[in-house]
Amino acid sequence: MKATEEIKSRIDIVEVVSETVKLRRTGNSHTGFCPFHDNKNTPAFVVWPDTGSWKCFGACNDGGDVFSFLMKREGWEFMEALQYLALRAGIELEKSSPRQENEKKEQQRLYGLLNDITGYYHTNLIESDNAKAARTLLLQRGLSQEIWVKFEIGYANDSWNDIRSYCLERGYSDEDLITIGLLVKKDTGKVYDRFRDRIMLPICLPKGQTIGFGARVVNSTDQPKFINSPQTKYFDKGSLLYGIDKAYMGIRENRTAVLVEGYMDVIAAHQAGFTNVVSAMGTALTEKQLRLVKRYAPRVVLALDPDVAGDRATLRSLSVARQNLDRESNPVFDPRGLLRDEGHLELDIRVVTLPNEMDPDELIELDSDSWSELVDGAQPIVDYVIDVFTTGRNLSDSKVKAEIIDDVVPIISDVSHPTERADYKQKLARILKVDERVIQFNKIGLYKPNSSNKDSLHNDNVTNNNMYDELEQYVLASLIKMPQVLSKIDRAFREVDADILSARDFDVPDYQRIFEIVKKSVSQADVEPEIYIKNQTCLEMKEQLQRLYDIGQEWIFLDERRIKDFVHAAIRLRARNLRIWLTDLQHLESVAKDQKDLHQAKNYQGIIIKYTQSMRGLQKLLRNYSDPLILSEQ
Ligand code: UTP
Ligand code: MN
Repeated sequence: MKATEEIKSRIDIVEVVSETVKLRRTGNSHTGFCPFHDNKNTPAFVVWPDTGSWKCFGACNDGGDVFSFLMKREGWEFMEALQYLALRAGIELEKSSPRQENEKKEQQRLYGLLNDITGYYHTNLIESDNAKAARTLLLQRGLSQEIWVKFEIGYANDSWNDIRSYCLERGYSDEDLITIGLLVKKDTGKVYDRFRDRIMLPICLPKGQTIGFGARVVNSTDQPKFINSPQTKYFDKGSLLYGIDKAYMGIRENRTAVLVEGYMDVIAAHQAGFTNVVSAMGTALTEKQLRLVKRYAPRVVLALDPDVAGDRATLRSLSVARQNLDRESNPVFDPRGLLRDEGHLELDIRVVTLPNEMDPDELIELDSDSWSELVDGAQPIVDYVIDVFTTGRNLSDSKVKAEIIDDVVPIISDVSHPTERADYKQKLARILKVDERVIQFNKIGLYKPNSSNKDSLHNDNVTNNNMYDELEQYVLASLIKMPQVLSKIDRAFREVDADILSARDFDVPDYQRIFEIVKKSVSQADVEPEIYIKNQTCLEMKEQLQRLYDIGQEWIFLDERRIKDFVHAAIRLRARNLRIWLTDLQHLESVAKDQKDLHQAKNYQGIIIKYTQSMRGLQKLLRNYSDPLILSEQ
């Protein structure tokens, strides 16, 4: 018997589900309230012990076996669920290879070292004379000794060689310390302590293992205010949330995680009893971080600094920034990215704006009741964005209306649930007092290049406003009809050093997902790509997929010319996107320049140059792949 089968035969799914869902026996099944979406009225969640399966007939419409249940509940990968259940069922899985075993041992050893160091810094903060100023600072910030202990806050001495000698004495090597980011190695080969005269905040995995540090200055003239552990084999800032190890219980209980900007805010919140607060450590939220939150709760509330919140310019320029720039260096709030994630993660993302000039930690100290109120009153992200773009503007001016539509509609169109999307469209139409159809129309017209900068790439004499969506549809339909075309497209892109086709090239969220499946279909060898695509498309998207099939139905002869046209369409799609990205980048660059942020402006310039080169390459490609009788442009 396969391990998975054996596990299923030994594990009682009702028992596993009952750990978090109150089940009631009804005939040969058990029913309860679905743990994956908010619903207190109908128990639409059903478990069948005889087949070992579950299904939600409510909003999430999901289902599966005990593995998928745990994956969803805990946010695990399949392997994690497998290992957990094997242990629980008393089944031995195939042994891992000696190399894997060694790696695991090595990891355990370095984890041990990280724990030692955490303890060393912590004791140092509590006891050492060196840490007097650090202690004073923490007390001045209103943080009690109790919370220092809870967060294992520490202090790194003002020395180039302190943690190093501590660890060497215990038999660790310089290499070990470099691997975990605690020592810096200069080109000359000299090594020294990375963290000196700093308050040390251990960053931990959910189960409490320290894997890195945030280090705050004691002396306010030192720069920068925070240094973080560098990215290492064991530390990936973008996949972690500061405080998650202390917060996950609170997040579960509240069914909500609250995300704040700073380390200090997290600590202050926990001290005040708000134990569901975590921080993305000052960078833009990543999908991994949202996934992590989602293990514990279906809702996340972003508590935004007033300087980010409500800034239309920031909101507007974000989707591009997020897609193109190193996130580490560019902490931004990105409603579009978040919305996409909300859709495919099924996460309810809400936003609160903090009152002027106040950090969460100041607000909590001043008035903790108002913090609860604020969080409870968080707005759904789309409402928030609509608010930001409409507040304080002259809504009777039709130019303003058009501007708002251009800004908000792309965000609404990212909402994955069709009824919700329709509701938002209606709402926007109501606020702007326009006919809803105007909004529909503009949604597609939005990405039309200004007539002033039309160029040879867009001399398609198609006047239909639908052309952009149609282009996406055409490319995707061709891929579904002939998944192998993808490699042709990618090769063409590679020829001119452009990035290969990706989900980012599609604006319609469902298309992005279907594209991902197409991509996987050609990199697996189990079944025919066409069958793979059919199997992997979830219920919700079946209709979309059918439409794409229907389009493909009309192509009887898949001759060379047709295929060439598929590639040609993909190139046009990329060219369209490059143009959008370029326009936005130019805007971003000029904003950065206005703000005298020359470093950032230079970053943008770099990308602009790269994209402009790609554009030239694409132009060449378009000529190569064009055909006097090109099919889709008749
Ligand atoms: P803040 O400056 O708001 O920090 O930056 P804070 O945690 O509220 O600290 P206090 O209140 O000034 O003591 C927000 C977050 O941005 C990251 C850190 O994660 C910080 O908590 N950050 C900030 C850095 O990584 N490096 C920096 O130099 C500054
Ligand atoms: Mn602060």
